[in-house]
Amino acid sequence: MTSIHFPDGFLWGTATAAYQIEGAWDEDGKGESIWDRLCHTPGMIADGSTGDVACDHYHRWPEDVASMAAMGVKAYRFSIAWPRIFPTGGVQVEPRGVDFYRRLIAALREQDIQPVVTLYHWDLPQALQDRGGWINRDTALRFAEYADFAFRTFGNDVPLWVTHNEPLIAAFFGYGNGTNAPGLRRSRDVLTVGHHLLLSHGLAVQAFRAARLRSATPGAPDPRIGIVLMIWPHHPASRHPRDVAAAQRSDGAMNRLFLEPLFHGRYPDDMLRHFRRRLMVPRVAPGDMEIIAAPIDFLGVNTYTRLIQRADPRDLFVGARQVDPRGPTTAMGWEIYPSCIYEALMKARAYTDLPLYITESGAAFEERIDPDGGIADADRIAYLRDHIAQCRRAIQDGVDLRGYFVWSLLDNFEWNHGFSQRFGLIFTDYGTLKRTWKRSAYWYRDVIAENGV
Ligand code: FCB
Repeated sequence: MTSIHFPDGFLWGTATAAYQIEGAWDEDGKGESIWDRLCHTPGMIADGSTGDVACDHYHRWPEDVASMAAMGVKAYRFSIAWPRIFPTGGVQVEPRGVDFYRRLIAALREQDIQPVVTLYHWDLPQALQDRGGWINRDTALRFAEYADFAFRTFGNDVPLWVTHNEPLIAAFFGYGNGTNAPGLRRSRDVLTVGHHLLLSHGLAVQAFRAARLRSATPGAPDPRIGIVLMIWPHHPASRHPRDVAAAQRSDGAMNRLFLEPLFHGRYPDDMLRHFRRRLMVPRVAPGDMEIIAAPIDFLGVNTYTRLIQRADPRDLFVGARQVDPRGPTTAMGWEIYPSCIYEALMKARAYTDLPLYITESGAAFEERIDPDGGIADADRIAYLRDHIAQCRRAIQDGVDLRGYFVWSLLDNFEWNHGFSQRFGLIFTDYGTLKRTWKRSAYWYRDVIAENGV
């Protein structure tokens, strides 16, 4: 076994999202979110579950912070539930929601864990959805106000701010095929939704610059802002030109449609032409593209696998269909393909020299507690080891990769899969809410301590 090491200061972290762990969905004045609404609609979630209680992190966060401290993690990426702070999306602030995040951030800092805060991990206030959600341009303005409030309230204590998590999923799955909240099938609006998400990102960056945040820790770098994109490699199923074009289109819709506006200030021409034929046209106002392309400080990359695409005219969006994985898979059915890390980072680097972070990487497997009380998740350890090795490979090839965040700290509510998919380093018993470290949590603790694998 050879060992690999990482640059000093490499940020080893874990990641979660508010709706997936917090629970307390209507406590302390929190407003309803589009995920509350979706989960309360029968038939939308695979196992009929909801995030009403989830991991009850809203009450058990001290235990979760203590766990991270014991693991030695350097950073914790979590999201703020917008409707916890602004129950109806704006104007009226809920101080109890603000206090919750203030206490969490303070506790993290006390343990020397850097908070990495995502402003939008998909849980829009339902009140804004009632006014059209992201189809309505006004939502982007409301987001910028919420972001501005968050910067001015928590800003100096948060070294890394993330505007959005995977706008692709919010747009295509929320408004396209309707599997995610708000569960709509309005394909003609999908590109406008994506555009408004990006616009809101750009407006939040403006608010961030105007707030001129300064680090609360003397000598530490000042807070920085970026965005998190899902970047999965797309490969053609064969060398047939039709399949090659199909993979280019799916890459175009899932990767380039977001990378190009952010870094080049325009949408990819081939994709605009393609979507126009499907009557999908984004509503872009003059000046929007400059706002979207305003300089940021880093890019976060979420990657889990690759997708192999075959041309299929029946597909509504890109005329491509995923074929079966070509190797072993995780419980999600995702191929275990460690090079996805390297390829995704290289893809990002083709657009920008900014510092990059792997903001999510991890795997779900079927598991239960062994009779001896442990969880021997050797498959997760192997997955993480091989994916971390690809991070090292990218660094060797010149990528400015600054950190790696395991998805997820603990088993949680996996969106429309409900509780059926366990991604955690820590096992959650959904009956008792007891947490148990899996073997991978101990293993990750050693990786962090040694700064390598
Ligand atoms: C990502 C999401 C995250 C989690 C993982 C498995 O797309 O950002 O919330 O669901 O997938």
